[in-house]
Order: sequence, then C-alpha cells, then structure tokens
Amino acid sequence: MLEGRKIIVGVTGGISAYKTCYVVRGLKKLGADVKVIMTPSATQFVTPLTFSTLSGNEVIVEMFPASTREGTDIGTKHINLALWADLMLIAPASANTIAKIAHGIADNFLTSLVLAIRCPLILAPAMDVDMYLNEVTQRNLKILKELGYLIIEPEEGELASGLVGVGRMAEPERIIEFVKDFFAGVKFDLKGKKILVTAGPTYEPIDPVRFIGNWSSGKMGFEIAKASAHRGAEVILVTGPTNLGTPKNVRRIDVVTSDQMFNVVVEFYDQVDVVIMSAAVADYTPIQKFEKKLKKEDLPDETVELKLKKTKDILKYLGERKKSQILVGFALETDNVLENAIQKLKDKNLDLIVLNTIGEGSGFGYDTNIVTIISKDGEMESLPKMTKYEVAHKILDKVSLIFKKGEMKK
Ligand code: CTP
Repeated sequence: MLEGRKIIVGVTGGISAYKTCYVVRGLKKLGADVKVIMTPSATQFVTPLTFSTLSGNEVIVEMFPASTREGTDIGTKHINLALWADLMLIAPASANTIAKIAHGIADNFLTSLVLAIRCPLILAPAMDVDMYLNEVTQRNLKILKELGYLIIEPEEGELASGLVGVGRMAEPERIIEFVKDFFAGVKFDLKGKKILVTAGPTYEPIDPVRFIGNWSSGKMGFEIAKASAHRGAEVILVTGPTNLGTPKNVRRIDVVTSDQMFNVVVEFYDQVDVVIMSAAVADYTPIQKFEKKLKKEDLPDETVELKLKKTKDILKYLGERKKSQILVGFALETDNVLENAIQKLKDKNLDLIVLNTIGEGSGFGYDTNIVTIISKDGEMESLPKMTKYEVAHKILDKVSLIFKKGEMKK
C-alpha cells in the first residue's frame, strides 16, 4: 500500500517514543522505505539501534559526526535526505521541537532537516496536559497549522506523569492510518501550473490614520494558496492586511489598497495559468486622501460627507483580457443569490464562481465555509459545511478538471 513511498520518521524526546517503534514497523510492513532521525534527547527513551533494526536503515542523531572519517557529506547530509523524502512524520513531537520548528530554529539534525524539506510534514504532538494546553504551545501549534503542516491531534487519557488530560500521542494505528490517508488523497495534479491567489481585505485610506476596510480575515485565500502548493503548483499569494502566516512554498506579496492589488495582479497576469480572486476588494475608495490627520475642528458640522469613487474591478479587467488563463471569482450575495452569482460569472468572463454564504460557520473569520461552486457551463455543486482547506481542494478539483478537458481537446 505504501510501496516505494519514502518516509522520514523524526523522533523527539518523550516517553511515547516507544510507540513510534510500532509506527516504523507498521510503515515498513506496508512497503514504505523508512529512515529514522532522532534528537539527542529521544535516545534517552529508545536506542538508535532499535530504530535502525526496525527500519533497516542507518539512524541519524548528531548533526556532526564524531570524526571526518565517517564521511565527506557532513553539512549536506540533511539536504540530500530532504530531497529524498516524499513525507516527513515527527512522532512524538515534543513541545520543545514544536516551538523550535515554529520559529525556524535549527540546532540539531532533525530541526535542520525540517527547514530543508520540500515534502509535507506531519506532526504527532505528545506531552503532558499542562504543557500541551500552555498558551505558548497552542500558539506554536497554530503557527504550524497556518504554515500547512498537518497535525495528528493528541488523545485524552492517563498520561505518563499520572495526570489525566489531553496530550497522549495518537496510537500507532491512528498514525499509520493518517499516513495512508495522506498518500491516498495526495494529488500532484497542479505540478507545473502557476496559480495567483488573492486574499484578505483591502484598506482604502481616508487620511494617514483612518481607512475604509472590511471584515475579511484572508483565511479562505490562504487555504487556497496552501492547498495549491500541496498539489504541486507554483503559487503567488497577493494579500491585503491580515495576521496570517505565509504557507510553505508560497510566494507572498503584501498590498494594502485595491489599487496596489490591481497593479500586482495585472503585472503577473500574463505569467500565470490560473487567477483565484478570493480577496474582498473594496468596491469604493475615497476620492480625496487627506495628507494630514483630519481634526474635528476642520469639520465644524455635525455630519460629515465622504465622497467615494469606484475602484477598478480587477476580475472584470482580467476577464476582458483573458487568453488561456482560468479565472475564478467569489460572490457574496444576500438575495437572489444564484441569479446574481451566475450574472457575475458572465459579466466578468469567469470559468468558475464560488458563491459564499454568510451565517453560522460560514463567511468572514470562520475556519469553515458553506459554498456553491458554479462553472461556466452551468454545472453547480452545493457543498455542505466544511473547513476552508477542504473547500480550497474542491475549488482546485474543478480547476484541475478544466485543465484536463483542455488537454483532451488538444
Ligand atoms: N473583485 C475584484 N475587484 C473589485 C471588486 C471585486 O476583482 N474591485 C472580485 C472579488 O475578488 C470577487 C468578485 O470580484 O472575486 C466579486 O466581488 P463582489 O464585490 O462580490 O462583486 P461585485 O462585482 O463588486 O458586485 P456587488 O458588490 O455589487 O455584489
């Protein structure tokens, strides 16, 4: 089932390292080629000899070998290994290693390798309940999730310390299932394609301290960028102001105003195969931008009028100049939803439009979304509530299908 898959298993210091022996044995049984890397503290729990016997491969612990006689590839060994792997799994992932990875610290072989890998990384955290629930650990895990690393959530139960709570590493069977599912679902169907994704709100300045904005968090666009990268695409993410971390293997360009977003998107338009406009671009911007902060005494009246002008419709502009690119737009409607979305798809010459609903568990700020995807040929798919990452894959499935149909015609 995992025949020919190359997997690096990283082991960090924690009592559940003993369970990782079963993981390595299970992955081997399924036909995977497994190489184990241990942190020095992991060797306090299980010996490298155990893992080297189970994996049938050399186990690496130290960044630097004891003598130069051991090889001439010191310094590049982690790079060679990084290029070799299809997947890296860290189990158990201690609070310490999670913190290091979240902050790019590379102070041992395992953490250096993490910085160098191009393949996806799965982590199975394991630690005591208070360490796990500690705000710093939770923040670090959030950073890793935003970066596109996959987390096998720890289980609840009795812990080695005697305390009861969440923090126990997932059982070996669950970890092996997760790896199998990962390979079953992984698609590299967008390899060789260039995708430009826009995300977040735009801010339209009134004066140096005030702006007109909207509640877009940027999550949907960031998840699309992440999912595109996971499927092998080269990704450019043009984003308005957000607090989100840049997903791995994504080139990010930050903008503030709709005008700046327009300029960047247009600059790259001819070089890309797909544009997915998930940004909530402001439709209007103040006509006059005040150089100095507006003071109340400058505005003697009880009411103030702010004159706005229409911004450039980026998607419409792209639609009018479309060559072979696939264009995907978003629509947020409150009434006549389907008719309005279909009209938008036609007006802007799009291939797909994603109709967003606003409500409980869907829309601005949520991690989930409820959408209907409508294609140019009238096909419509209404999806149940799912995570924004899953929605991203559904959109990319449609994009991939358009590529396939195009290739069949050739
Ligand atoms: N969009 C854009 N440029 C703008 C405004 C919107 O490219 N200046 C894109 C959005 O990124 C989205 C799609 O157009 O993909 C739909 O945006 P929306 O604001 O909902 O639609 P509008 O066409 O502006 O119409 P309305 O606001 O009247 O519904």
